[in-house]
Amino acid sequence: MMTAAPVHVPVLLQEVLDHLVLPPAARILDLTLGLGGHAEALLAKADTDSRYLGVDRDPDARSLAAERLGSDARLSILASAYEDLWDEPQFLAWRAAQAPEGFDAILADLGVSTLQLRTPERGFSFRDAGPLDMRMDPEHGLSARAWIAEQTDESLANAIYQYGEERASRPIARAILRALHEGRLDTTHDLARAVYTVIPREPAKRKGHSDPATRTFQAIRIAVNGELDRLAVSLETAVSHLRPGGRLAVISFHSLEDRIVKQTLRRLAGIYDGPGRVAPVELPKVLKLLQAGGIAPSEAEATANPPSRSARLRVAERLP
Ligand SMILES: C[S@@+](CC[C@H](N)C(=O)[O-])C[C@H]1O[C@@H](n2cnc3c(N)ncnc32)[C@H](O)[C@@H]1O
Repeated sequence: MMTAAPVHVPVLLQEVLDHLVLPPAARILDLTLGLGGHAEALLAKADTDSRYLGVDRDPDARSLAAERLGSDARLSILASAYEDLWDEPQFLAWRAAQAPEGFDAILADLGVSTLQLRTPERGFSFRDAGPLDMRMDPEHGLSARAWIAEQTDESLANAIYQYGEERASRPIARAILRALHEGRLDTTHDLARAVYTVIPREPAKRKGHSDPATRTFQAIRIAVNGELDRLAVSLETAVSHLRPGGRLAVISFHSLEDRIVKQTLRRLAGIYDGPGRVAPVELPKVLKLLQAGGIAPSEAEATANPPSRSARLRVAERLP
């Protein structure tokens, strides 16, 4: 059951506010509205003529954000995955009517929200027993259990290795599929137990030592939601919707995601990272990188809000 209203503490909030410049009558696109934490702060900074379009694929997040901020007439909420947003008639109509010159600020705060992690029925967490689901949009796509049922030992091991950077991916994949075929894989706890048969859980969790199921859960969540599949192209499309001088801010939560964000922004800034020293073709330069190494949370934020620890913010500005 969803107990008290879940709180999602917006990550790197001050840094986002510092780097997203809001002119008068700003046009802001939030690709991952979540519970509206960043939105609330950005709207507080924006003037009365500004407009804010908040997008999320999760119906629970959209209704909680609407409850929190719905009375603000500057905000519109749109149901979509950001990968599919760009051709949505509702988006195109909003863009043409409200932001014909493009956006001044686009924010993507990637990954899962505390709402998703803390609601056992959503099946994201190994801590609480829940159905093995993990879909950010429970109305579409395969649940984690259905997705696992479609895998072979090899394809599951590859996903766990690639998206979870888990070295014991092969025995874990075998243990998961064995549990499935023996009718013991219905809940998040069943999945965690399958992992523990390979990497036993230490009775007393040592400080800084993550649960052995963490990497496998991350991997299956990324695969089920296709989280990395169209990230690069979505960021590139987002940049094309910025007006010159407008800024894109992206917060990622693990190294795989951050690598894609970094490579995409660098490429759009005309920086060649491929083999050899010189690019085979000159890369068009449409972005200027700000804080090229990215911005990590302060020690104070990481201590106050441990999930922020792995976050990294990257910001870039659209060139004329
Ligand atoms: C980290 S939370 C955002 C939190 C938000 N910035 C706040 O302060 O409350 C990420 C949100 O992005 C949504 N999300 C993840 N991938 C998405 C996608 N591909 N398209 C749209 N929304 C997505 C999730 O449903 C979740 O609500």
